[in-house]
Amino acid sequence: MTAAPTLSVRIREIEPLGASLKRFALEPAHGGELPTPAPGAHILLTLRDGGRVMKNAYSLVSPAAARDRYEIIVRRVAQSRGGSAFLHQQAREGDVIDIGYPVNLFPLQAKARKHLLIGGGIGITPLLSHLHLLKARGLKFEMHQLCAPEEAGVFEALLAPYGEAGEILVHGTGRARFDLAGILARQPLGTHVYTCGPRTLMEAVATTASALGWPAGKIHKESFGENSGGLPFKAMLARSGIEVEVGETQSLLEAVEAAGIDAPCLCRGGACGECKVSVLEGEVEHRDDFLSAEEKASQGAIMLCVSRARGARLVLDL
Ligand code: FES
Repeated sequence: MTAAPTLSVRIREIEPLGASLKRFALEPAHGGELPTPAPGAHILLTLRDGGRVMKNAYSLVSPAAARDRYEIIVRRVAQSRGGSAFLHQQAREGDVIDIGYPVNLFPLQAKARKHLLIGGGIGITPLLSHLHLLKARGLKFEMHQLCAPEEAGVFEALLAPYGEAGEILVHGTGRARFDLAGILARQPLGTHVYTCGPRTLMEAVATTASALGWPAGKIHKESFGENSGGLPFKAMLARSGIEVEVGETQSLLEAVEAAGIDAPCLCRGGACGECKVSVLEGEVEHRDDFLSAEEKASQGAIMLCVSRARGARLVLDL
C-alpha cells in the first residue's frame, strides 16, 4: 500500500473562538506556498501523540487565494476519538504536523443560478470557504446556520464578513423553529442547495428537497466523519493475518490504523470511497453515502471509516 503524499506545516496561530471551538492557522513548515485548494476542500491531518497516530479530516475555512496558510476550525467533542481533543489540549503554536493535499468532494456548482447553504454547528466550515468565493464573484446566495443558542454569537461573528453580499440567517434555536420546507419551496429555479452538519440535518435537507421535486443533482452534502459508534465487534484482516477489536466509540478505520495498518482514506466521512474494502465473511451495517443500494445489499464491501459489523465479527480482504 503506497502512502499518500503529505505536506509539512507549522501551527502558526491558535485562536479560541468559543468554549469548544478553536481556529488553527497552518503555514508551510519550510517556507514557500501551499497548493491552492478549491472552495469546499478538506485536508487530512496526521497527528502523533507518542506512538499513537490519529488522522482527522477538516474543511479549509481560509480563502483559496491565501496560499501562505490554511485555516481550519476544530470543535472539541465530548466523546473525542483523539484528534480533536489532541488539537485542543496538546497542540501548540510552532508544532509541525503532516497534512494531506487538499481534496474537494463538495464543490460549488458553476451553473447554479443561486446557492442555498444550510449548515448545522461545525458543519459551517466548508460553507465558509464557499462564502469567500460567492462574495468575491458577486454570486447570489442565501445561508442558514443552525446552532445551539450559546454558540449563535460565534457563528454570527464568523458569518459577519459576508452579510452584505447575500442573505445570512443564524438560527440559534437549532431546528426547532427552522422552516426547512418553506425555505426550499421558495427558491428560484436553478438553485443548488449545499448542506453540512449532523447527519439528521443533511438527511432532512435531502429528503425534503426531493419531496418538493428538487433534482438529485442540485442537492449536495458534505459528511465530516460523524461517528455515532455502536456495539463492539472484531474484524479479522485476512491478508495481514491480524484480528482487531473495534470499540464502542471507535471506527473500524481507527481500529485498523491502531493496529499499524496504513489503510487508504480521504474524507473519513463515508463519501469518497477511498477506504472501500471487500468483505469475505460477516454482515455489514452500512452507514456510508458512497455504495449504491445494490452494493450495500450484496454485502460484498464495507467503507472502513463509518460502517460497522451487524454481528460480532467480520472477515475483511485487508
Ligand atoms: S475515507 Fe472516504 S469513504 Fe471512507
